[in-house]
Amino acid sequence: MQKRKVCVIGLGYIGLPTSALLANRGYMVHGVDVVQQVVDTINQGNIHIVEPELDTFVQAAVHSGKLKADIKPTESDIFIIAVPTPFYEGYVPNIDYVLSATRSIAPYVKAGNIVILESTSPVGTTDQMEAILKENGVDTSKLFIAHCPERVLPGHIMRELVSNDRIVGGTTPEATKITAEFYREFVQGEVLETDAKTAEMAKLTENSFRDTNIAFANELSMLCDKFNINVWELIKLANRHPRVNILQPGAGVGGHCIAVDPWFIVHAGGEMAKMIRTAREVNNYKTEWVIEKIKNAVLQFEIQNGRKAKVACMGLAFKPNIDDLRESPALYITRRLKADGLDILAVEPNIESHKEFEIIEYKEATQKADIVAFLVAHKEFKCLDVNNELDFCGVLNA
Ligand SMILES: NC(=O)c1ccc[n+]([C@@H]2O[C@H](COP(=O)([O-])OP(=O)(O)OC[C@H]3O[C@@H](n4cnc5c(N)ncnc54)[C@H](O)[C@@H]3O)[C@@H](O)[C@H]2O)c1
Repeated sequence: MQKRKVCVIGLGYIGLPTSALLANRGYMVHGVDVVQQVVDTINQGNIHIVEPELDTFVQAAVHSGKLKADIKPTESDIFIIAVPTPFYEGYVPNIDYVLSATRSIAPYVKAGNIVILESTSPVGTTDQMEAILKENGVDTSKLFIAHCPERVLPGHIMRELVSNDRIVGGTTPEATKITAEFYREFVQGEVLETDAKTAEMAKLTENSFRDTNIAFANELSMLCDKFNINVWELIKLANRHPRVNILQPGAGVGGHCIAVDPWFIVHAGGEMAKMIRTAREVNNYKTEWVIEKIKNAVLQFEIQNGRKAKVACMGLAFKPNIDDLRESPALYITRRLKADGLDILAVEPNIESHKEFEIIEYKEATQKADIVAFLVAHKEFKCLDVNNELDFCGVLNA
């Protein structure tokens, strides 16, 4: 049977792997991005993001003629929207990219098409997409519109796109069924059916659950510091309870998912979203607390030694062993310390250079520094032998 044509809007961390996977499975894929350079790079069979195995998939897809990138959509059987959903100042969700992507496909959608929103979105966004299509003259009663949130782990995207369970929620039961059948063609995990709002809330819930659990660990770490207890030992001991599983504290919470998505619930839920808001606040506060701790250590050093301390900021990424600096607490801490006039050495073994900081080799930094602040538990740091450390991520202790 001839595979259907798919138009994917947004060729970033989600849209490009999805396009490349579908093209390798025989679909004709028309990938769309508003950035010409992204389009050109992909059409040459190359990639503009770092993700294991993606280069092989894209190269094969482009060379087979099954994947073509463009700055404009085209008529297709299935449309998938995978554009960013950040927030505005004050943690107000920004779905402008989704709305503009929806407008861009309106001239091309026709009866019988499936329109899927994959971007992580506030509850009600899929309905808003339908309203926009209607406003633009599309008869949406003849379309199948659904939300299918993405839950892949960067670094494992090509595998998880296939192996993860997926949630599909349509604006009608028919849309749910038809869209779920499409995902079952290439997903090995289970494809679970619900309605659009539940699917939207499910994704936000998953990330809020993670955020809340991390907030618990972060709050514990600050309490333990106050009580002069080693939090890493405490967590190990408490986790020996058969039904307790406390996560590891860190310098805050980063990345463009867990640190962002809970705000979509808080914004819409208002007073009702007490715990989810508090978790966000605790995790953000932890980052401020780390800054204060480092500054206090620097003052202490100055009093004892009569000179300014050099501080090694160990790690800039938002989590261990990756090069992704988006919404990274470690990057924020390093920036703030530098802006406040501290003498810092920036260390990040996963990147070669950074436009704001000179990146110092990690062993050299520990030798030169008076205070070594571990902000990210990168594997390289685990075997370092230092005695002037502030370990905020348990890399030496956990
Ligand atoms: N990256 C992840 O690990 C991950 C995981 C789960 C969910 N998500 C969600 O998936 C969505 C996409 O995230 P991402 O990481 O792929 O973003 P990204 O920033 O990597 O890529 C988005 C791409 O969309 C393009 N774009 C923006 N507006 C457009 C438009 N109107 N038409 C065409 N292209 C447009 C941008 O130029 C960019 O290349 C977000 O909602 C995100 O929260 C991401």
